Amino acid sequence: MNLRDEFLPWKTLIGQIILDKNRNITSVVNKLDVIDSTFRNFRMEVLAGEDNMIAEVRESGCRFKFDFSQVYWNSRLHTEHDRLVKMFKKGDYVADVFAGVGPFALPASKKGCIVYANDLNPASYKYLQENVTLNKIKTGIYAYNLDGRDFIRKAVEDLDATVISAPVSTPATYRTFDHFVMNLPAIALEFLDAFRGLYRAREPHFRQTPAPVLPMIHCHCFSKSETPEQDVIERAGEAMGHSINPASCTVHHVRKVAPNKDMFCLSFRLSEEVAFGRCAVFRIPETGSSSTVFALCSTDVTRACPPSAKRKDADPNGGETVQGANGVGKVDETEGPASKKVRVEDGSG
Ligand SMILES: C[S@@+](CC[C@H](N)C(=O)[O-])C[C@H]1O[C@@H](n2cnc3c(N)ncnc32)[C@H](O)[C@@H]1O
Repeated sequence: MNLRDEFLPWKTLIGQIILDKNRNITSVVNKLDVIDSTFRNFRMEVLAGEDNMIAEVRESGCRFKFDFSQVYWNSRLHTEHDRLVKMFKKGDYVADVFAGVGPFALPASKKGCIVYANDLNPASYKYLQENVTLNKIKTGIYAYNLDGRDFIRKAVEDLDATVISAPVSTPATYRTFDHFVMNLPAIALEFLDAFRGLYRAREPHFRQTPAPVLPMIHCHCFSKSETPEQDVIERAGEAMGHSINPASCTVHHVRKVAPNKDMFCLSFRLSEEVAFGRCAVFRIPETGSSSTVFALCSTDVTRACPPSAKRKDADPNGGETVQGANGVGKVDETEGPASKKVRVEDGSG
């Protein structure tokens, strides 16, 4: 639950009614603060039922078990999880940079993708692995417990170690990831700097491969702008040091998280300029001025360029500030009857 202040005097009663009316719920909890921690979990209090935060939820044909007090979970993202997984084809290589307990990774793996899934939160990493076992997935999924930037580099190296089959001098069959998924909407755009020059050392392999394909990147983000598509595309370009052509990407509206704040997913194919670190556009703030100078460099400046400067309007916490957007007592209809234990009401991530 995410109860509005005016309903707090009746919180225990409300919790008890929800518990009584829903047979598959064993605990009702109320969110106590906005999601502003690194691992996107939040404090909560038990309103009714067991003081046990171990939840088990079904989504996309998979079972997910986790400690809701330690990890991020939001059943409202079910449609978004399904939307992206539908884009993946059997045999695709998928890297999930902020995987949580696996709502993209496990269904993708079940579909026949080879999945590299990562989360910095040790608890998410633990449940991600447990969920692989719970869903009887035996091969083709690799779990990591790294910072997102480190993971992006490491996953590419690890995949290279398994798929580079021919020396550069012979016609190669170089393959890399087909998709990167980046669902940490408060700050994922900033992590796009990790793609600068990521494939520089692999360029010869790409050149010798008949139809080389760079990965698609699906990066989730929030925007409060009146022109969100433009805002998101610009911020992504700043992080990568190279602008994205609006005609070559999509900005999908995922959901409204607050009256003036929406979640989007920017999908685009990584450009050669960024992947091979050939050029970069970077920002030099002018002293004593609020304006920004853009410079275009034809040489490799990716090492010299710091990650894109933090925007003044960036919301580092990304938490919802408006309480009760879901309405009192409204249970999450996106979970099917198979879900049990803690009912997950909301969490914007
Ligand atoms: C919004 S949640 C998304 C989880 C999952 N992909 C989903 O759709 O439910 C973001 C996840 O990123 C993880 N995270 C936060 N900072 C990270 C970092 N620097 N590197 C890797 N993972 C990070 C959090 O622990 C959290 O599980």
